[in-house]
Amino acid sequence: MDKLVIEGGCALAGEVRVSGAKNAALPILCAALLTPEPLVLSNLPRLNDVRTMQSLLGQMGMRQDGSAPDAVSLDASRIDWPLAPYELVKTMRASILALGPLLARCGEARVSLPGGCAIGLRPVDQHVKGLQAMGAEVDLTHGYINARAARLKGTRFVFDLVTVTGTENLMMAATLADGVTSLENAAREPEVVDLAHCLVAMGARITGAGSDRIVIEGVERLHGASHAIMPDRIETGTFLAATAAAGGDVVIAGTDWHSLAAVIDKLREAGIDIATMDTAIRVRSSGRPRAANVRTAPFPAFPTDMQAQFMALVSRAAGTSVITETIFENRMMHVQELRRLGADIEVEGNSAVVRGVERLTGANVMATDLRASACLVIAGLVADGPTTIDRIYHLDRGYERLEDKLCALGARIRRVQ
Ligand code: UD1
Repeated sequence: MDKLVIEGGCALAGEVRVSGAKNAALPILCAALLTPEPLVLSNLPRLNDVRTMQSLLGQMGMRQDGSAPDAVSLDASRIDWPLAPYELVKTMRASILALGPLLARCGEARVSLPGGCAIGLRPVDQHVKGLQAMGAEVDLTHGYINARAARLKGTRFVFDLVTVTGTENLMMAATLADGVTSLENAAREPEVVDLAHCLVAMGARITGAGSDRIVIEGVERLHGASHAIMPDRIETGTFLAATAAAGGDVVIAGTDWHSLAAVIDKLREAGIDIATMDTAIRVRSSGRPRAANVRTAPFPAFPTDMQAQFMALVSRAAGTSVITETIFENRMMHVQELRRLGADIEVEGNSAVVRGVERLTGANVMATDLRASACLVIAGLVADGPTTIDRIYHLDRGYERLEDKLCALGARIRRVQ
């Protein structure tokens, strides 16, 4: 199993280019199931989660051609198996995103229930309820969601809570439904908007994406299209937090600061110098940051996917920060690892009280999930002496060569077996 060995203490300098967004790529790959014509994607990130989704779609019968490393042409003219098996779903919960498109296109779908994951229970009841409201017959047997509907019907559906993939699943299903669907209390995340742009390019009729009410007028069929995946705002935020923590002067290129305004505000509150440009962000930092409190919530508030990285930053702040996680029940597993590096953090309920310390010291730590891994990389960059991070397969699910990109900025990181 690969590990990262980080020699802390190097400031970062230079320019880094952000890859396409994982959380936009995964639903957009599934959108290709909605049409018998080719969907051509560019700026596709080369990540393990993307490869897993591609192999899931390949098993269903989708043909895929890559003209360049970050481009793919998806051809779902035939779907042989409208099935997402447990073996793949258990490794990546986002496989549930195949459910809506498969059902809308094939009239039936069989997708394994994802089960729990390290950061919380993460049920999919909203996905199922929404499809039932659109007239699908759904039963749960042998650990599978079995859904059938000759043609889905437009409806008004109010989500009990804000769910990103739930909104994406129902939005995709509704594009081929009979009549108008309105999704209320919908997720407003930029990745939902990127998916809507792709679907509209495929001939879907969608208004309101980016607001909490999305209206979809169903059409008989969708056609082929080309779409460039949006830049990854969480990768962008990770480079911001890394530079803020390690110190230095970095330009993050090929990104969009608007999707990250809440994170930028918090970094500024922590004393970090950030300049936003059209498609780039410059971040400069020296010395210890100031303390800043953070509360995660759905977009446009501070994203849960940046909580761990921000905690690594304020673990060295001058002062005490309170970090509250409101989206997932168990997303504080990085705390005990940060403590091994000398951080002073106590967890009280869903909040972490972080008393900033002057220095962290390198140690052996273990990555527990994707963003916790990024948090430990950032902590390793500022710690005195070497930090070894085990189980970094979590990191490879969601970051494209993170250590190479950081090394190009002056970090000293080695990947070892
Ligand atoms: C997506 C992102 C993930 C991010 C999360 C929150 C993708 C592929 N993943 O995950 O990186 O951390 O949004 O921004 O885009 N819930 C239910 N019932 C449901 C659905 C969700 O109770 O049917 C709960 C979840 O347990 C969680 C909360 O709603 O507590 C939000 O989850 P959700 O937005 O659905 O997360 P994902 O879409 O899985």
